[in-house]
Formats: sequence, C-alpha cells, structure tokens
Amino acid sequence: MASLEPSPSTTTTNNQQDLPLKQIPGTYGLPFIGPIFDRHDYFYNQGKDKFFSTRIQKYNSTIFRTNMPPGPFISSNPRVIALLDAASFPILFDNKKVEKYNVLDGTFMPSTNFTGGYRVCAYLDTTEPSHALIKGFYLNTLLSRKDTFVPLFRTILSDAFNVIEDELASKNGKADFNSVVSDASFNFMFRLFCDNKDPSETILGSQGPKMFDTWLLFQLAPLATLGPPKIFNYLEDLLLRTIPFPACLARSSYKKLYETFSSSAVTLLNEAEKAGLKRSEACHNIVFTAGFNAYGGLKNQFPILFKWVGLSGLSLHKELANEIRTVVKQEGGVTIQSLEKMSLVKSVVYEAMRIEPAVPYQYAKAREDLIVKSHDASFEIKKGEMIFGYQPFATKDPRVFDDAEVFVPNRFIGEGEKLLKYVLWSNGKEIEEPSIDNKQCPGKNLVVLLCRLFLVEFFLHYDTFGFESKNNAFGAAVTITSLTKASTV
Ligand code: HEM
Repeated sequence: MASLEPSPSTTTTNNQQDLPLKQIPGTYGLPFIGPIFDRHDYFYNQGKDKFFSTRIQKYNSTIFRTNMPPGPFISSNPRVIALLDAASFPILFDNKKVEKYNVLDGTFMPSTNFTGGYRVCAYLDTTEPSHALIKGFYLNTLLSRKDTFVPLFRTILSDAFNVIEDELASKNGKADFNSVVSDASFNFMFRLFCDNKDPSETILGSQGPKMFDTWLLFQLAPLATLGPPKIFNYLEDLLLRTIPFPACLARSSYKKLYETFSSSAVTLLNEAEKAGLKRSEACHNIVFTAGFNAYGGLKNQFPILFKWVGLSGLSLHKELANEIRTVVKQEGGVTIQSLEKMSLVKSVVYEAMRIEPAVPYQYAKAREDLIVKSHDASFEIKKGEMIFGYQPFATKDPRVFDDAEVFVPNRFIGEGEKLLKYVLWSNGKEIEEPSIDNKQCPGKNLVVLLCRLFLVEFFLHYDTFGFESKNNAFGAAVTITSLTKASTV
C-alpha cells in the first residue's frame, strides 16, 4: 500500500545510503538518427506516457538515458537523464546541485528576439544577480496587490459565466470553455499589472489573448504535435522541428503587446525602476511573465481542473456546492479566509494539479558530479549533464500515492495533507515557498487561490454541468454542453 506516513517512499528515503550504486541504463543511439527515432516514438509512434513507461520496463529503472525533443537541428544536444519517480525528481529543485541556465524549454531556447533581446527571469539561473533582482520584484509585486486578487477575479469570472451562458443559448447548445478562460486569464493578468485598466480599451482591443497565442506558438511549436493523421507525421515533424521559427513571425503581435504594457503598467514599471531595473528590461520581463508564465499557465490550468471535476460527476458537484455554500454563508462572503476553510475545494485543486500538472516538464543541468536516488538504486550524474523530469510520473508514483492514476477528490484532506510534499506543479514542493534563491513559480499561491476561487464562483452559480473534452497540444480542450443553475443559495 502507498500513501500516508510511514510510506514506502519514506522508508526508501531513510535507507537511501544503502541503495546500490548503478550505471544509468539507456542509450542515445546513433548521432542524429537516435534523437529522430526517439522523437518519432515520443510524438507519433508511442505518445508521451507510453514512451516513458515502455522504457521504464525495458531498463527496469525509473532513471535512464534518452533523447528529448526537439533534437536536430533545433537543439544541439538532446541527450538527457530522465527522472520518472517521486524520489529522484526533487533534485531538480536543489539549486545548489543543479543549474537552470536557459533550460526553461528544455534542450533548446527560443531566440531572445522574442523578448526584446533580453534573457528574461525564467531563463536565468539562481547564481545570476539579475535573477534575484527580477524574482524579488515579482514576489513584491504580487504581495502588494494581494488584496485585489479576490474582487478582481470574481468580477472577471462573473463576466466569463455570462459569456458561457450566451454561447450555450446561441451556439447549438455548446460553449468553448478554453477560449472563455483564456480571455479571463488574460484580462486578470493585464488588470493586475496595469492599474485595473481594461485591455479592450487599448490598441489590443479584444485581440490580446490571440496575440499572446501567436507569440507563444512560435516559441513552443518544436515541443508540440497537432496530432495529424499518420501520413502527415513526417511532414509535421519536419516543419516543426528542423529549424526554429524566427521571432519576426510574431514581431507585430509582440510589438503591440509590449507597447500596450509599456504605456499601461505605469505604476508597476515605476516600482521596477525603484527596485533597480532598467525600464525596458522590466517591461519585457513583465510581458513575458504576464503572457508566457501566467496567461500560458492559467489558460491550460482551468480546463484541466474543470475536466477532472466534470469527470468526477454529479456526486462531487453536490459535495462541492454544499461545502462552498455552507462556508460562504457561515463566513458571510467569499474571502481568502473563507476559502481556507473549504477542505474539499482545496483538495480537489491539489488533486487536479497532481494528476495532470499544467507544465509537465522540468529541466536542469548538474552543477557538479552528483548522486541521484530512485526508490531502488542510486546513480551518478556527471557535471554538465542535462537532467529531465517528466512530472506526471513523479506525481503519479504508485509508491507514494494509492490509486495514483485515479482522481481522488478528497486525497489531500486531514492526514492526506502530509502528501502535499509530493505535489510539484510549481517547480517545487507544495509545502515550500518561492524565493529569490530558488526557481519555484512566484505565482504559486496566486494560482492555487484562483483555482479555488474558480470552483467557488462556479458552484455558487451552478449545481452541475455537462461537458465534452479531448486532449489538445498543451492540455485539455473542454466544451460545455449544459449548465444547471444553483437550486439553493
Ligand atoms: C497555472 C499557472 C501557472 C503554472 C502552471 C506555472 C508553472 C511554473 C513553473 C513549472 C515554473 C518553473 C519553470 C522551470 O524553471 O522549469 C514557473 C516559473 C515561473 N512562473 Fe509560473 N506558473 C503559473 C502561473 C504563474 C503566474 C500567475 C505568474 C505571475 C507572477 C508566474 C510567474 C512565473 C515566473 C516569473 C517564473 C520564473 C521563476 C524563476 O525564474 O525563479 N507563473 N511557473
């Protein structure tokens, strides 16, 4: 049996000294051909999960060598050591042992022309002085705006629900959940950073989210597949992964976004200058964080959460509605404090983040020769080697979680809270906090709050919903087919 202390993983941790030192299994294959074979298995022949699970079986190890996409010619060195269990994965967060220099997207980095010539915060290693400066600026920015999170997001959600209802009434009874939450995520980040200015009253009009999508797509396309029919696999692979897309393709969108943030985020940019940042560097960083980190993360996170809540069915919807309405009544409203009292809501959000982390890949390079430990063995990694973690295999590790593949809504309630140290979506443990010395997402607590708020607002308005979902290139695509208005308040 897995889960709860003392767990097999804890036992393993305690006995780590005794683990046998083994050679890391796996092979990179022939130069050029090996990485191409691997990426065809990864995208087309096997798919991500099977790619990793078949190799775990083949090597009888959750740590092995493999190539990761994109490979030739976009990444000069696609060779990684993959970590696929909860015991080894956290080495990626140990900034004393690993370096996070230009590894945000893995074995390649999009041109800095996408970001005004700057290497923005997420590409900086913790040893670079500008990392502490910019990360500290974000942490302070969020702290000083924390009182606006709840009222701002509630207003935005209420508009979003109206759009969904209108679409259901007019578009053959279907509403595109992803596009509604993309708009809401953009709107929230823009207003948060830009003195509550309405983005539709700027030169962006209603096109802000689409402009970010274009800019994101050209940076991340080498890591994606549109899932074309089999005969087009080679063509897609050739188009997406032979040479990087040049930044000029996104130039006009990015220019408009930059100019709009530059003229709208006045208070924030003044704060950045006071903190010691150059105004233009600060603005490129703000656009990146608003668009890549925040908008890019949130627009995928909400459909994932909603899909899992939907799949759990009416009984969970009833329990959630009951908890939410009872606490809101008792506490006299929706506040950060009342959200803290909703143990099922909290657990459901963590469980969605565990079972399907929105950013599933983490990379880092060994700063020194080091030893990494799986549950069963220890392995030596040499200085400079690239370490890669596929997070869903760490957060669905059956040696830590019971029914690891199952969405268990109340998993993190009561004693279950002890398992939060194995929830890793933010590039760190859920029980740890982002700081200038680590690479954990500074939006960690904000994201958790927004997900809780989303559920609270939804189940204050509605009893249940009907939906359809399928996987898309970066997560889940959700279509709402029905909404049942709240029968009690
Ligand atoms: C669901 C939404 C989000 C997800 C899933 C997410 C996830 C992540 C992850 C996994 C990383 C680490 C990437 C790596 O180095 O491997 C990260 C870093 C970062 N995130 Fe988030 N994030 C989200 C929202 C936000 C928000 C709202 C902000 C706004 C402040 C933000 C700002 C950042 C920044 C600035 C970094 C770089 C941190 C550093 O360099 O130390 N993220 N995020």
